[in-house]
Amino acid sequence: MLTHVGTKKIETKRLLLREYTFDDFNALYEIMSDPETMQHYPAPFDEDRTKRWITWNLDNYEKYGFGLWAVVLKETNEFIGDCGITIQNIDGEMLPEIGYHIHKKYWRRGFAKEAARAVRDWAFQNTQYDTIYSYMKYTNVGSYSTAIANGMRKVKEYDDPKNTISYAYAITRSEWKDIKK
Ligand SMILES: CC(C)(COP(=O)(O)OP(=O)(O)OC[C@H]1O[C@@H](n2cnc3c(N)ncnc32)[C@H](O)[C@@H]1OP(=O)(O)O)[C@@H](O)C(=O)NCCC(=O)NCCS
Repeated sequence: MLTHVGTKKIETKRLLLREYTFDDFNALYEIMSDPETMQHYPAPFDEDRTKRWITWNLDNYEKYGFGLWAVVLKETNEFIGDCGITIQNIDGEMLPEIGYHIHKKYWRRGFAKEAARAVRDWAFQNTQYDTIYSYMKYTNVGSYSTAIANGMRKVKEYDDPKNTISYAYAITRSEWKDIKK
């Protein structure tokens, strides 16, 4: 596994992905406490759950060398969400998963797609994983549309006590190489 090498940054055309700090709390809380944004989750986050989200990712950076990273607009330095890789339980298997949350005022402008593609490229370039996943509640059209835009295809549909039904999408290293040709 990768060792932690300090503040990692990924740059795209419009975005900077960098590690979370507790200074991101207010901007993150605005996103995670919003009922519309969290409609596919069991409930919006309270302050404590939001703090634990940041702590969980700081731990992820130490443990794995990756986690969900803060997504920042390069032009203004505004925090607009997160995107990155975490290890998730997908139908009983612990698998590398690309996740994303974007402030609703910025939805449908291609930011999740731009961040997710950069994270996917980072994952295949910097880890040994041969398949990278995204999973979501079956109702989460925005999430699975972003997975498809990230070159993934649906590999599983399964009963999930948290989500009723979950969909799993995936891209393999060889499919990724074909995209990058
Ligand atoms: C899912 C989410 C991150 C998408 O963010 P976004 O920045 O609006 O997504 P993008 O603009 O990059 O769109 C990516 C693709 O999905 C499509 N898409 C996004 N939202 C969609 C929606 N609500 N309905 C249908 N398609 C949608 C876009 O058209 C685009 O497809 P294309 O490239 O083929 O045109 C955003 O809706 C969000 O933060 N949702 C709440 C948090 C959440 O549920 N996260 C996922 C947890 S599993």
